[in-house]
Parts: sequence; structure tokens; C-alpha cells
Amino acid sequence: MITLKTPAQSAKMREAGLVVAEMLEACRAATHPGVTTAELDRIAADVLRRHGAKSSFLGYHGYPATICTSVNDEIVHGIPSPKRKLREGDIVGIDAGAIVDGWHADAAITVPVGRVSGAVADLMRVTEEALRAGIAKAVIGNRIGDIGTAVQEVAERSGYSVVRNYVGHGIGRAMHEDPQIPNYRPVRGQPNPPISEGLCIAIEPMVNIGGPGTRTLDDGWTVVTADQSISAHFEHSLACTPAGPVVLTAPVGAAVPA
Ligand code: MF3
Ligand code: CO
Repeated sequence: MITLKTPAQSAKMREAGLVVAEMLEACRAATHPGVTTAELDRIAADVLRRHGAKSSFLGYHGYPATICTSVNDEIVHGIPSPKRKLREGDIVGIDAGAIVDGWHADAAITVPVGRVSGAVADLMRVTEEALRAGIAKAVIGNRIGDIGTAVQEVAERSGYSVVRNYVGHGIGRAMHEDPQIPNYRPVRGQPNPPISEGLCIAIEPMVNIGGPGTRTLDDGWTVVTADQSISAHFEHSLACTPAGPVVLTAPVGAAVPA
């Protein structure tokens, strides 16, 4: 069931989104060779505490941390660990969600650790561009499938593949609501609802240098590429309004992602 949000409700989600943006920026600033992913988790938790907000992730189906940190061939849902020291040339996906007054926001960035190869920098650039292209299609009167079509086009014209086993989602009083937001063209027989005023969604392309296949590690969470190719992930939560998409997780002052 899709629940549409009133402007007052999406304003509450914007409050959560500002906290998420601050978590991500604090983690980005702390990302250097030698830092552990557990340290990033603590930095994000400190931001939540300062705002009196809660993590959307901690305890979700038993998830054990505040954020997800996914390094190199890890696509999503990597668990922060004091044993995982980031190294020059790595990339790390940082995924954060916050709850303010019962309302969720969810976003992710992928950050280079020191200097990275040109190939990996290009993957990050294209994945963020794919997110922007998807957001631009989150317009009333379009359908959800228009978002995935745009994301897939951007990724594939650079020779990359989009992950199909994980998708974006509606968001609101729960982190995961209907509808699903695939990062690929509509598939016959799968729902492709219209985009209505008040729809709030998280768009989150996961883009691989190699093939789209995925595998889950024995920790039960960490999703990696089946072919061990490098993967990038960017995500924003947004509200669909008559004035166009409003990015709820953009940093303060920004109406759309930079
Ligand atoms: N941010 C992820 C998403 O977009 C959720 C993380 S899974 C969790 O769906 F278990 F860590 F919460
Ligand atoms: Co999400």
C-alpha cells in the first residue's frame, strides 16, 4: 500500500533528512587511510545523539550498527567493524538513516579513501549522475519506471551494470514502504505505479563495474558483487511535489543534490 504524505509530514521527513545529511558529511570528512569503519559508525551515532534522533538501521531485522559501510566490491549492507581499516585507493559506501518524531529519511554516498584509480573515480561519478537522472524523473504524472529507465541508461552508456536484486523504496513512518523503486527499465508484469503528489521515495542506484550479480556473505548482511568487481552506491530520499522533486536528504541550503 502506497501512503502519500502531506506537506507537513514531508517537512518532518526533511528534519530527519537534514540529520542524515549531517551524518554523511561527518563520515565523509573522517574518511582517510587508516580510519576504521567502526569509527565512522561512532561518528554517525554522535550526530544522531546530538539531534536526539534514532538510527533507522540499528535493530532493523537485527542489524547491529548505526550505518552501513560497504568497501570496494561490497555493494550494500556492510557492517562497520573495528577490524576494517580503510586503505588508500579504497572506496566506501556510507549509508545512513535517521528517525525524527517517527519519520524516516535514508541516504547514501560513496567516498574515495585518499587517491583512487581513474576507473573507480569514474564509477562513482557515473553512479551519482545516475541518481541525479533518476531524481529528475520523479515528477508527478510520470511513472516509477521512468526513474529506473533513466538510472539504467546513465549507468549502461558507460558500460556499467545496475544491481537488480536490491531496489529503492517508499519511505515515511517506516524506512521501507511501497512502492519498490527499481534502478532498471520496467519489467512486464511488475508494478509500475504513477507518481502522485506526496509520494516520498528513496532512489538508490547500486552500479557495478562488472556484472549485476550479487552474493551475501556469511555474516548474513554484507552484499558483494558475484564477480568481485567494484561497486558504488548513492541514495537520496525525496518528496514528489507539484514544484518537482524535493530532495529531503540534501545538505542544508541545497534544494537538489550538488
Ligand atoms: N539504507 C538501506 C536501504 O536503503 C537499508 C539498510 S539495511 C539495514 O534500504 F539493515 F541496515 F537497515
Ligand atoms: Co534506502
